Amino acid sequence: MNGQRYSLPAIALHWVQAVVVLWLLWLGWTMVDLPKGAERSAAFVLHKSLGLLALLLVCLRIVWRRGNPPPRAISGGWEARLGTATHHALYFFLFMAPVAGFLASSFTPYAIKFFGFELPKVGWPDESLNGIFKLLHESFIWVIAGLIALHVTGALKHAIKRDGTMQRMLPGR
Ligand code: HEM
Ligand code: HEM
Repeated sequence: MNGQRYSLPAIALHWVQAVVVLWLLWLGWTMVDLPKGAERSAAFVLHKSLGLLALLLVCLRIVWRRGNPPPRAISGGWEARLGTATHHALYFFLFMAPVAGFLASSFTPYAIKFFGFELPKVGWPDESLNGIFKLLHESFIWVIAGLIALHVTGALKHAIKRDGTMQRMLPGR
């Protein structure tokens, strides 16, 4: 199916994931500056749950997209190519960043919980492995932040031009 607009599940997944990822960026950058204590621990616990939710959402999006290809870009040439490349890079890093976060957290003494449900740990307390995956997590996050800035700028440009690109990522006719 390569219709004129995104399917309703693709639209719903896009906006839910956009909110979750923007929340995670804000939460991640603020929680690391909190002093050690209950507030910092609660923020980390929430961050891990939301991060795993973001991982689940990107997997669902990728699976859905394979069966339901997105509509062809309205613009042509370099703009369409840049848009498609940005989307592919977003999918890649939206998958890699939470995996790196999960691995970083796996090489600590702390349990990883998904909204209260304890997950099996794939690692053991190891400071150097924890450090490597933390660095990867942080690097992937910066790439995601750059891609989102580019993506939102592009989306706003289309919205101003009113060329229909924004409409097809919104519910309605
Ligand atoms: C908050 C402002 C945002 C706006 C206005 C926006 C708007 C849009 C629009 C209009 C499209 C369709 C583009 C097209 O038809 O070529 C789109 C696609 C997409 N957006 Fe966003 N977006 C936003 C935030 C985000 C965020 C935060 C993420 C990452 C979590 C994201 C990830 C994506 C991806 C991966 C696609 C490609 C969908 C596909 O073709 O499979 N967006 N966005
Ligand atoms: C798309 C999903 C995710 C996003 C956008 C995200 C975002 C962030 C951000 C912005 C930071 C702050 C980085 C800094 O120090 O400057 C951070 C740190 C962290 N994230 Fe994530 N994260 C995600 C998924 C996850 C997952 C799934 C886990 C673990 C299950 C996780 C665990 C952590 C940990 C433990 C830190 C603190 C690292 C430190 O102590 O320096 N994150 N994350």
